[in-house]
Amino acid sequence: MANRLFHVRRLVCCFLAVLPASAGAGDVSALSFVDRLRQIGIPVGDGDYCDSWRLGVEANNVRGFTTAPRKCDNYVENYMRGHHYRRDSKVVVDEAVAYAETLHLSSAAAGNATWVFDVDETALSHVKFYKRNGFGYHKFGEPAFMEWLIAGKASALPNTLTLYKKLLLLGIKIVFLSDRPDTPELRNATATNLIKEGFDCWDDLILRSENSTTTGSVVEYKSGERKKLEEEDGLVIVGNIGDQWSDLLGSPEGHRTFKLPNPAYYVDNYMLAGVQAVATPVSSSST
Ligand SMILES: *[C@@H]1O[C@H](CO)[C@@H](O)[C@H](O)[C@H]1NC(C)=O
Ligand SMILES: *[C@@H]1O[C@H](CO)[C@@H](O)[C@H](O)[C@H]1NC(C)=O
Ligand SMILES: *[C@@H]1O[C@H](CO)[C@@H](O)[C@H](O)[C@H]1NC(C)=O
Repeated sequence: MANRLFHVRRLVCCFLAVLPASAGAGDVSALSFVDRLRQIGIPVGDGDYCDSWRLGVEANNVRGFTTAPRKCDNYVENYMRGHHYRRDSKVVVDEAVAYAETLHLSSAAAGNATWVFDVDETALSHVKFYKRNGFGYHKFGEPAFMEWLIAGKASALPNTLTLYKKLLLLGIKIVFLSDRPDTPELRNATATNLIKEGFDCWDDLILRSENSTTTGSVVEYKSGERKKLEEEDGLVIVGNIGDQWSDLLGSPEGHRTFKLPNPAYYVDNYMLAGVQAVATPVSSSST
């Protein structure tokens, strides 16, 4: 396929020496998250509602929202800046590591075993951006966010980095599959940011080419790319991790999928706006 030519295949050197200590899960208090926030005087608004809303998001019952409900503004911020987000992510990653360890990689397909990672809010966190620009209010594709991506200053999500290093040690190939638009500038910024944050080795970094951005949902795009990995490259997708359901749905999903938490935004068709923003000069503010 023509657009495969645009996926710069690149096996970056790996530095596997030390596994990062897994991030502490923090104290597990008997109080609920919302009650703990109340206890320390943080306004949680309709926190109980927001707890339930977040569960709805994670279970893919709440769909298609562009921002969190206004009344959950403080809630989403406190969740993503606090221990709870890290702890929820750690549960996901612990399961993923345990699963990876059960794979019998001495089998025939071993050399082709591949794990697909999403990039945004999976490998790299944009909490620093939201801290400055408001949690739950910023749409994924908008100009200020695209400028932030180009700056390449996102931080590694520590639990995902732990999983990543573990998979490399197990000899599993890594493919990053993102719906970031495949412009030369953003490709460079994405690769540079990933390497700087410790994700320094991959078999493929797939961004969304111009052609596939103009048609199709994220599910169609991502499942289509996974299909090419399997059918054209002979890879076996043993695992797939992302913060969006659109990272995980659509055949082939991968033998197992892992959903990381993200109550801040929901991606389905949505990067289209971002691509237009990249293609047209952006005049500064959008906050
Ligand atoms: C996009 O589609 C056009 C027309 O089919 C084709 O000529 C071009 O090579 C494609 N570009 C990419 C990046 O695949
Ligand atoms: C990987 O897949 C390719 C293409 O299907 C196949 O030729 C090769 O033998 C596989 N490698 C392993 C180690 O199974
Ligand atoms: C990004 O672009 C710079 C300047 O052209 C280049 O030196 C650097 O190697 C590129 N980084 C990556 C990861 O492609």
